[in-house]
Amino acid sequence: MTKLLGVLGDPIAHSLSPLIHNHWIREHGLDATYEAMQVKTGDFQNALSALSQRDAVGFNVTLPHKLSAFEACSDVSDAAKAIGAVNTLTLQPDRSWHGHNTDASGFLEALSIQGIEILPETKTIVIGAGGAARAIVYALSSIDNLPLILNRTEGKARKLSIDLTGGESVYGSIDKVYGLAAAADVVINTVSLGYEGKALNLPTVSNGRFIDISYGAAAAQQIEIAANSGWQTYDGLPMLVGQAAHSFERWFEIAPKTEDILNRCRSLVETLA
Ligand code: ATR
Repeated sequence: MTKLLGVLGDPIAHSLSPLIHNHWIREHGLDATYEAMQVKTGDFQNALSALSQRDAVGFNVTLPHKLSAFEACSDVSDAAKAIGAVNTLTLQPDRSWHGHNTDASGFLEALSIQGIEILPETKTIVIGAGGAARAIVYALSSIDNLPLILNRTEGKARKLSIDLTGGESVYGSIDKVYGLAAAADVVINTVSLGYEGKALNLPTVSNGRFIDISYGAAAAQQIEIAANSGWQTYDGLPMLVGQAAHSFERWFEIAPKTEDILNRCRSLVETLA
């Protein structure tokens, strides 16, 4: 019987996850299919109950359900617990859900794919304090790097620092990005202002890496500003593929290759731009 997998979210039509996972499913000759499933906010619990009765392996969860997914699990990994969100559900033999978060390890995978080395002494800035920022701060703290966290709502940056770094990470207002970014080696932007047609202004540098975890149209303006200001720029496609690879590995115990599918995703995103 063909095993069911998929991604639950809203909106979901433009998700690249089916392309990525079905590529690996084919590559490894697995009898499985991965589908995009649109699930409205209020329908998540019902959808999950119905899916638990199917011949399913597991599901990815994206906006707006990462918190609901966390609450729906009977058991969650340490990463999901620390981050407070689940992006990978695995159906257990008793039909309950195990929750994990592969955004953090996917981010580290993306660093490795792109040859970006972050050491404990590397000066990093994380912009934002939402779910994505929590995953990235968790990832950085796992490699003993303490980022400066800058967010519009300072209280959320403070809470993130306390929750994930025991208060050791310095935090502040997003208004300080322009003044502080020049002293950083790596700036990681998790705030997607692109959807609002806005972008953060950045100082001109001769050296420095700017990673925006969005991709395509959502990241284009921000990445252009960074590149024009001398930053070496990176988008979020490698993190997307990295988190997918770690979900796939959890479900099938196979570590899939990322290079071919990353290239395919990139051509597709460039075609759509
Ligand atoms: P994600 O999972 O993508 O991180 P999220 O949890 O909703 O999404 O977090 C969104 C982040 O974008 C937050 O850091 C938010 O700042 P606040 O904590 O102040 O809300 C930030 N954000 C969203 N819109 C913004 C805007 N117009 N200007 C600055 N920051 C913004």
